[in-house]
Amino acid sequence: MAILVTGGAGYIGSHTIVQLLEEGQQVIVIDDLSNSHLEVFNRIKAITAKEVVFIEGDVSDKHLLAGIFKKFDITSVIHFAGFKAVGESVANPLMYYQNNINCSLTLFACMQEFNCKEIVFSSSATVYGDPETVPITEQSALSATNPYGQTKLMIEYILKDIAIADPAMRIAILRYFNPVGAHPSGLIGEDPNGIPNNLVPFVAKVAIGELPKVYVFGDDYDTPDGTGVRDYIHVVDLATGHLAALKKIKDHVGCAVYNLGTGQGNSVLEVIKTFADVAGRDIPFQISARRAGDIATCYASVESTTAALNWSAKADLKQMIKDHWHWQQKNPKGYKSVH
Ligand SMILES: NC(=O)c1ccc[n+]([C@@H]2O[C@H](COP(=O)([O-])OP(=O)(O)OC[C@H]3O[C@@H](n4cnc5c(N)ncnc54)[C@H](O)[C@@H]3O)[C@@H](O)[C@H]2O)c1
Repeated sequence: MAILVTGGAGYIGSHTIVQLLEEGQQVIVIDDLSNSHLEVFNRIKAITAKEVVFIEGDVSDKHLLAGIFKKFDITSVIHFAGFKAVGESVANPLMYYQNNINCSLTLFACMQEFNCKEIVFSSSATVYGDPETVPITEQSALSATNPYGQTKLMIEYILKDIAIADPAMRIAILRYFNPVGAHPSGLIGEDPNGIPNNLVPFVAKVAIGELPKVYVFGDDYDTPDGTGVRDYIHVVDLATGHLAALKKIKDHVGCAVYNLGTGQGNSVLEVIKTFADVAGRDIPFQISARRAGDIATCYASVESTTAALNWSAKADLKQMIKDHWHWQQKNPKGYKSVH
């Protein structure tokens, strides 16, 4: 009995694998390393004293994937593999539709062929588009404002249709809010290529002196300090949410959707201030114009997730930033620091 983790060399996948190994699960990883490094597996081993089976390759490669299902007794899948940068998806939509949709279709077909019924899928709060009200519940209206979000919505619809066609399927769709932080060991964390798209990794690069200042896009939103409010969740809490979802689908057929957030919102200025306090240094920032497509406030209702999965996020913003900073200081150049 093994769990197949697609995209397991990435940020959220690697943290989830640590939790799975610590629970004694056998883990098989497929990743093409398009946005990750082999070094992550040495780090996972350093944390857990356990190893995964790693297969380097594209999830869209059906022969490779079928070979994995033939060789190992895969009982469930956690599907992280995909591209995730919103801006890049706007500039290059085909690349996003091709990769995210193709690898999902290949994976789902292979699961069907090998009679694998359990899957946990990485969706995103981006499927709520510009929400009319907060907190956002799983029943809030869905829409996509960019090709990345479209791919997440499409994959959600595909999974819902698969669950209708095959009542034995057990599917959990997890809509993540804003994952940040790193494993407390400082051995694994987020290692974005180039200039980070997300706020916390960007602030970390400013704190370490790699970037000169943080740009705050808009201070005239209808929020307590005028800057955008988001629901940040510690990546280790997110990881444990996957284990809770895997447990849940063991005794529940069908397709269910769960928000993974803290249910709390924090503003851009709060994040910068908390980072400055934790790091004990000034974080220069500059207020600039609003960014097209950004929304004022986004945070989750986690009531139904807490009730259904018996899970809730534990870490507060300070802890998330402490762990992020620890990782950043230990690995100023990410996983490339070792070479
Ligand atoms: N990090 C976030 O802010 C966030 C928020 C919401 C949802 N998500 C979703 O969660 C999942 C994981 O996100 P992450 O932050 O860990 O991203 P990541 O880029 O760190 O991890 C994704 C992994 O998938 C691999 N990959 C991509 N395409 C592949 C393919 N065709 N075949 C094999 N491997 C492939 C990459 O090499 C990478 O290791 C993604 O699906 C992402 O869209 C992330």
